[in-house]
Amino acid sequence: MTDLINRQYYLASRPVGKPDATNVPVRDVPVADPASDEVVLRNLYISLDPAIRGWMGDDPNYIEPITLGDAVRSSVIGRVVKSNSPDYAVGDVAMSLGAWEQYTTAQAITLNKLDENMGIPLSSFMGVLGPTGLTAYFGLLDVGKPKAGETVLVSAAAGAVGSVVGQIAKMKGCRVVGMAGSDDKCRWIKDDLGFDEAINYKTCGDYEGAIRKACPEGVDVYFDNVGGDIMDSALNCLNKFARVAVCGWISTYNVPNAPGPVNLWQLVAESVTMQGFTLLDYLDRFEEGIGQLVQWLMAGEITSREEIVDGLDNVLPTFLKLFDGSNTGKLLIRIPEE
Ligand SMILES: NC(=O)c1ccc[n+]([C@@H]2O[C@H](COP(=O)([O-])OP(=O)(O)OC[C@H]3O[C@@H](n4cnc5c(N)ncnc54)[C@H](OP(=O)(O)O)[C@@H]3O)[C@@H](O)[C@H]2O)c1
Repeated sequence: MTDLINRQYYLASRPVGKPDATNVPVRDVPVADPASDEVVLRNLYISLDPAIRGWMGDDPNYIEPITLGDAVRSSVIGRVVKSNSPDYAVGDVAMSLGAWEQYTTAQAITLNKLDENMGIPLSSFMGVLGPTGLTAYFGLLDVGKPKAGETVLVSAAAGAVGSVVGQIAKMKGCRVVGMAGSDDKCRWIKDDLGFDEAINYKTCGDYEGAIRKACPEGVDVYFDNVGGDIMDSALNCLNKFARVAVCGWISTYNVPNAPGPVNLWQLVAESVTMQGFTLLDYLDRFEEGIGQLVQWLMAGEITSREEIVDGLDNVLPTFLKLFDGSNTGKLLIRIPEE
């Protein structure tokens, strides 16, 4: 018999446009006792990522869509409250694939144990030391292949991935230009993160003109987080043998039948390499990536921002902040411990 009740948000219907409470309602369900080698986590943090919007649909994607009726999938960090595994004691903290829910039951072998006493906030393991930091690290260095002296342009530059991309590119000796959706974000990436230039794409008017002005020597690496018109404008500003790292197309995620890019001829005109990637391509190199990011963070060479919103009941409106740009940095839900 169980004594725990799990509040969870589940996918009742596939959204068209932005998801709302009819697509993602809430329910309370009992938590079964853990089976052999399973643990039950009481979630402390829930990661809110644009990719979750993709999993709510049923288009082909890099992992399976969320099945209708299932809780909305996301990464979580939680404290073990029940364990049927010799590897986990009650009180341990671990990261897991979970859901928008208070309790996650998972096989112990799938968890990453986290050390609360490292002097690093647990939330960092969802951001700069977790999936978004690693995406920036591998996407920029492996796909973008920046060289010292080159110009790197990054969109959604004040976001969880983009802000780390820009800082790594600066460490590699590049001129770095970021595009972001407010003057405050532009100030932050220039003044605090060391970007050379920032473009507020919501007020600049002509994207291509603004990119040319901020990148007088052209763009050698475009790290694309947004797709759409910004990507098309960036394609027109690429140098010979430029690289485009396609990380995400957030501008299209809530737009049914969004049109594709139109300026792909530039790949021919400038002998450009354009490559999509997902973090899962680098599973066997996570240790290297996390090791390097921890070192940079400890040395003060990269900084990060997290926006942490308290309360599982705020999960859906908070998730939607990703799509109107009202988040800065890694967006998380915290479920405070009593
Ligand atoms: N390939 C992978 O493995 C991988 C892994 C993680 C993330 N990603 C992708 O990386 C991108 C960034 O993710 P993140 O987690 O770091 O989120 P984030 O950048 O922290 O937040 C999303 C940001 O996107 C910008 N945005 C939203 N709608 C936009 C639009 N229509 N046009 C232009 N910008 C828009 C907003 O910033 P502004 O205020 O600047 O508009 C918003 O703050 C997403 O496309 C995501 O899917 C890919």
